[in-house]
Amino acid sequence: MINSKKAGRYERIIIQLEELLSKPGDIHSRMATISSVLHHKMDGFFWTGFYFLNNGELIVRSYQGPVACQLLKKDTGVCWAGINQKKTIVVANVHEFPDHIACDSRSQSEIAVPVHNKIGEIVGVLDVDSKELNTFDETDQHYLEKIVAMIYK
Ligand code: SME
Repeated sequence: MINSKKAGRYERIIIQLEELLSKPGDIHSRMATISSVLHHKMDGFFWTGFYFLNNGELIVRSYQGPVACQLLKKDTGVCWAGINQKKTIVVANVHEFPDHIACDSRSQSEIAVPVHNKIGEIVGVLDVDSKELNTFDETDQHYLEKIVAMIYK
């Protein structure tokens, strides 16, 4: 079930990002722009950013919010689950996710959305944390998947 208030917010964000990302840049400036717009426009986005694969490790890229772990232990936690299962992972309560990596103890719920490069390989994830339980739903999944597809356009 799509949450229409949230969907409206995402629709406006996508229009703004299309404008911002229409200018020349590279994937790093695009990811920085996306994390800033999402973080400041969406309610409850407590940490918003990217982890990217680098020599088999998942390392932090641009983000907004409190200081985060630079490196995520291989095959552990929500971001690695998104990479390994090749799909978006929505976690209603991080304390119930067996090997969740708590970079900040205030995080309660989370979504990790795989990022694909131009040839369809998964190269990283967009990760968003909330201080409330149960923040993310299929509306977030739908729009965040659209938004991460804008990185390599
Ligand atoms: N909780 C994540 C780690 C990254 S932070 O939330 C910023 C995980 O379990 O992969």
